[in-house]
Amino acid sequence: MPRMLTIITVIVLAASLGLFLLSQQKEPFNVEGGEDQLAQTQPQSVVEWRKLIDSRFAGDQACAECHQSEFDAHQRSGHSRTATPADHSELARALDGQNYTDPNRDTVYQFERKPNGLLVGIEGTDPEPVFPVQWLIGSGTHAQTPVSIDPTSRNGVEFRWSWFASTQELGLTPDHERFDTFRPASLECFGRPMDAQQVLACVNCHMTAVPPPTVVPTQEAFLPNVGCERCHGPRKDHVELAKQGRASEAKPLLEWSHAETYLRQCAQCHRDETNAPTDSTPASLARFQPYGILKSKCYLNSGKKLSCANCHDPHDVTSRDPEHYVQACNACHAGPKQVACSLNPDGDCVDCHMPTVEWHPGISFHDHWIRLDRTDPKDDARAVLDAVHKSSPEASP
Ligand code: HEC
Ligand code: HEC
Ligand code: HEC
Ligand code: HEC
Ligand code: HEC
Ligand code: HEC
Ligand code: HEC
Repeated sequence: MPRMLTIITVIVLAASLGLFLLSQQKEPFNVEGGEDQLAQTQPQSVVEWRKLIDSRFAGDQACAECHQSEFDAHQRSGHSRTATPADHSELARALDGQNYTDPNRDTVYQFERKPNGLLVGIEGTDPEPVFPVQWLIGSGTHAQTPVSIDPTSRNGVEFRWSWFASTQELGLTPDHERFDTFRPASLECFGRPMDAQQVLACVNCHMTAVPPPTVVPTQEAFLPNVGCERCHGPRKDHVELAKQGRASEAKPLLEWSHAETYLRQCAQCHRDETNAPTDSTPASLARFQPYGILKSKCYLNSGKKLSCANCHDPHDVTSRDPEHYVQACNACHAGPKQVACSLNPDGDCVDCHMPTVEWHPGISFHDHWIRLDRTDPKDDARAVLDAVHKSSPEASP
């Protein structure tokens, strides 16, 4: 009986996947413009959209010539590798011809690398369902989770298996236990189905530019990774003016001079109280650094002088040297008029005041809410988030 179900699943999937693959080769659709203002101003095809992108964005490599140190640092940082096309990835090469047995389901996934990309199928099914794997999200510092987007519906799927750095192998994607029981003959066989809104949120935090709804989301419609121009804005004009010695005419697009503005910029993706998921727990909130810093006395009682820049170079990989952070803390905690540690002013501050919190087996985050009383009743994530969402109903859930 399970086998029967699988076969039905496969036939239905094969039909919809045929469409999935076919629609990637179809001419981009054309929406009738005219009366609709938006339709006139928004590009209608991948080609038009790509032209627009290429006319505004110079790409990371173009900055290297004049900003070598930022460029080199950014290459080291996970920001430069947050979204990789799966087809030519190292992971695709490693998975070719391999299997992955789902730990919680009676399913074995099979991988195959074809000239048109990485495909995943389910063992024991006939005909073989072949599902294209388009994007690997995450640099792999902690993990990489694959995602595919259907160009026609713009819906997508977050696959059930991810690659984990801690074990150097595939495992269940975080939070996928809720799909241990799944609807047969549905996308759930492969992972978590996402509507167009969820797909957009996902890629928007891991990419520099994503296509508007009028454009078919094929791979070339995206500018992957958190590139220079995700933070600094499209800078093609800056590059062109700089080459004529007129760099200062292309004004900075983003304002970083105030700590709060700074923190809120990073919070678009790293999240604060306005966009942390409402089902967050205290442990999962430790993942959201701006959320923590904005609640710390170090920020609130310093005249809001603390930003990510006190401890991190936004271009570079995270320093793992405790001494680096001791120095950052002591800029405010070792002076004559400053409050020093009454317990261990010569110790590793981070160890005690920014402890790691496990978010998922093998993945931990340093809690950026610097505080003494970690049992404070105000440390109730639900209450905090409920209050925020009540006061600004337009905030995202
Ligand atoms: C467009 C979304 C986005 C924005 C804006 C953003 N980040 Fe990130 N950041 C990410 C993602 C995604 C990662 C995970 C990268 C990976 O896959 O390893 C990350 C990783 C990092 C890391 C770890 C880098 C490493 O490799 O060790 C630091 C530090 C960081 N971000 C700091 C910042 C700071 C500071 C800002 C604001 C100036 C900022 N980020 C703005 C998305 C963003
Ligand atoms: C609100 C912005 C946001 C959304 C939405 C989001 N991410 Fe992320 N993601 C981040 C940031 C910031 C990081 C780096 C810090 C962290 O791990 O929390 C990250 C880290 C990751 C990592 C680990 C990278 C590494 O090796 O350190 C993976 C994998 C990942 N995201 C996958 C996804 C997938 C898949 C989706 C959508 C289905 C998604 N994310 C949605 C912002 C986001
Ligand atoms: C995650 C966001 C982010 C990314 C990605 C990013 N920057 Fe920056 N950049 C900043 C911030 C924030 C500042 C303000 C100064 C600081 O905090 O170090 C800055 C400052 C700069 C400055 C001025 C430095 C100075 O000392 O005045 C240059 C030049 C620069 N960035 C170039 C780049 C280039 C080139 C890239 C890509 C290779 C890049 N940035 C990628 C956030 C980013
Ligand atoms: C031909 C050399 C050149 C290239 C290429 C170039 N820059 Fe610059 N950039 C400069 C100079 C010179 C300045 C200093 C301008 C000033 O003094 O105000 C500058 C300043 C900056 C600053 C600080 C002020 C601001 O405008 O925000 C940032 C950020 C920056 N560049 C980002 C970039 C990025 C991102 C790229 C690649 C897309 C890039 N630059 C490419 C020459 C260049
Ligand atoms: C920009 C300055 C600044 C930096 C940098 C800074 N702090 Fe603070 N910190 C403060 C101020 C101001 C207070 C509030 C002191 C007071 O009024 O009692 C504070 C308070 C604290 C407290 C007491 C919190 C509580 O709940 O009572 C601890 C613990 C602390 N800081 C640790 C650190 C550590 C560890 C670092 C480095 C990782 C750090 N701070 C970096 C300014 C800073
Ligand atoms: C007071 C110092 C301090 C400030 C301010 C700070 N961080 Fe951190 N951050 C740390 C420390 C310490 C670590 C852990 C380093 C390690 O693993 O050794 C860290 C780690 C990280 C990591 C890697 C994930 C992790 O938890 O291991 C990211 C991403 C990050 N910070 C982003 C940010 C962002 C974004 C901001 C601004 C909202 C910020 N940090 C502000 C001290 C700071
Ligand atoms: C072994 C753990 C440990 C280390 C290491 C440590 N602290 Fe503390 N710190 C504590 C504890 C516990 C308290 C609360 C002491 C009390 O209530 O008597 C404290 C108190 C503080 C306070 C509040 C001072 C007060 O009495 O109100 C500050 C600020 C602080 N630490 C900063 C730091 C800094 C900066 C460093 C690194 C140079 C550091 N701590 C290293 C455990 C530590």
